Amino acid sequence: MSDDPGVKWVKVATLDDLWEGDMLDAKVEGEEVILIHREGGRIVCFQGMCPHQEILLADGNFDFVKGTITCSAHEWEFDMKDGRGRNPLGCKLFQYDVRLEGENIMVGVPTDGRLRRLRHSVEEEA
Ligand code: FES
Repeated sequence: MSDDPGVKWVKVATLDDLWEGDMLDAKVEGEEVILIHREGGRIVCFQGMCPHQEILLADGNFDFVKGTITCSAHEWEFDMKDGRGRNPLGCKLFQYDVRLEGENIMVGVPTDGRLRRLRHSVEEEA
């Protein structure tokens, strides 16, 4: 795998810390993130703050059968596969690149200043 110069790879956890069907939250380069080990083995990483009013998504509900993340505050629902809003539509969680180096779960943090904490208000849809 070639190294993208616009990404800094940071070790966030090991496979021992994050079993399949589980999630964990962490802070990476100053931002909250959530790591999810989806059933089937794929690991994904998203911004850890809800794009609505910046509540920690780690306090929400993770439904591995439906494949959803639901915020505890106002029940916005996101797709666990790609972070897209299912309810409401139109919002999205920032998704980090993830790769394994042996047992280590590495998260790719953009170094180009890209916003890693997306926000969304319902007014944007009006
Ligand atoms: S803060 Fe998450 S749904 Fe409102």
